[in-house]
Amino acid sequence: MAGVYIHIPFCKSKCGYCGFYSLPSLKLKDQSLEVLKEEIVQRKDYLRGEAVNTIYFGGGTPSLLSAKEIGEVLYLINMHFPVAADAEITLEANPDTLSLEYLKALHNMGINRLSIGIQSFFDSDLQYLGRKHDAHHARLCLDWAKQAGFSNISIDLIYGLPTSNTEQWSHNLDIFFSYGLPHLSAYALTLEPNSILTKQIELGKALPVIDDDALRDYEILCRRAKENVYLHYEISNFCQRGMHSKHNASYWFSTPYLGLGPSAHSFDGNSRQWNISSVEKYCDAMSAASRHCERSEAIQTTNLDCFVVPPRNDAKRVFEKEELSPEQLYDEYIMLRLRTHWGIDLKYMKREMGERFSTYCEQHAQPLLAQGRLSQTREFLYLNDQQMLFADGVAEELFWE
Ligand SMILES: C[S@@+](CC[C@H](N)C(=O)[O-])C[C@H]1O[C@@H](n2cnc3c(N)ncnc32)[C@H](O)[C@@H]1O
Ligand code: SF4
Repeated sequence: MAGVYIHIPFCKSKCGYCGFYSLPSLKLKDQSLEVLKEEIVQRKDYLRGEAVNTIYFGGGTPSLLSAKEIGEVLYLINMHFPVAADAEITLEANPDTLSLEYLKALHNMGINRLSIGIQSFFDSDLQYLGRKHDAHHARLCLDWAKQAGFSNISIDLIYGLPTSNTEQWSHNLDIFFSYGLPHLSAYALTLEPNSILTKQIELGKALPVIDDDALRDYEILCRRAKENVYLHYEISNFCQRGMHSKHNASYWFSTPYLGLGPSAHSFDGNSRQWNISSVEKYCDAMSAASRHCERSEAIQTTNLDCFVVPPRNDAKRVFEKEELSPEQLYDEYIMLRLRTHWGIDLKYMKREMGERFSTYCEQHAQPLLAQGRLSQTREFLYLNDQQMLFADGVAEELFWE
């Protein structure tokens, strides 16, 4: 089992709250897509022939690509990787880029899951967040997505907004439930350093964020999700039975994945690597690597070497890489699993990592269990709805010293 992630780092404009790497211009889109296609070919052996069960177009705004462009990328992935017939293929989409025709074209080419960044069904919230769509268009997109044939649809909502109150947040959730969609990602508004919104708040030009609002909304979210039989399977993710994001779950289950495109991350089971976080540098370095590769192949070097261009070529590395020690793999497992309802599986830990890790974890869990900061059922250590809010602090206490 393996996953492929394609990062499309372009947006129409920068939303006020966003701290993700993306360019608010399409100037480099065509060049970057050509380089991305080269990367697909160059890295065809990264997953060592594992069947690809999930493909995820994330961003930025992948729905800024035309259906033809997305089709070409999908075609190349299918050409070079053994993609499973029932693979989950997700596209992140912004409402202001969607139309019924476009959604039909995506569905016809095999995209079978949509993650739509709605954020709120209230215009006052959307304006505060600096979104390009309005509430009416957000609802239209959901109708179109269903009409186009999509049933596996997720939406993103943001809570803890100073433009909202409990009634409004509840109403946002009512609208979500009324569509019967199988999946919801709901995030507490985070003020990212250097985001437009953070600066506006500092200058007194936007309403400040009140931490208690997020706590209040989180409680409503958990309660309403339970009432509507949605499983709270990760801090920010809720789903109907069996409808969790299989791609995101692969991150929590340490399944290997290949990340393509600027700033995309990859994991092969033992090491992590991440592409350079700059479209310009990614394009330059990848092109130089390809030229080097053509020469290298002539003198029979391995394909993997092609990504590290020798310094004499005056080119940059395409990616950085870190081999993970057993202790680092243990820490990652703790951090990722505590965010999920699956929790830490002590039996798995003993079998896969060794007794020294499972014993260490069990011992360090005791005071947390006694303090009510952690829960246990049989061999599983996990966080309930309330405890999940403090996952980072609990993880720190279980980390390897
Ligand atoms: C990687 S973003 C990309 C999605 C897509 N470009 C969009 O904007 O709809 C995924 C989601 O993260 C959430 N998000 C991004 N920045 C956030 C922030 N500062 N606070 C809370 N949620 C945030 C939003 O809900 C967003 O839809
Ligand atoms: S929230 Fe989405 S659309 Fe807005 S800037 Fe970030 S990635 Fe782009």
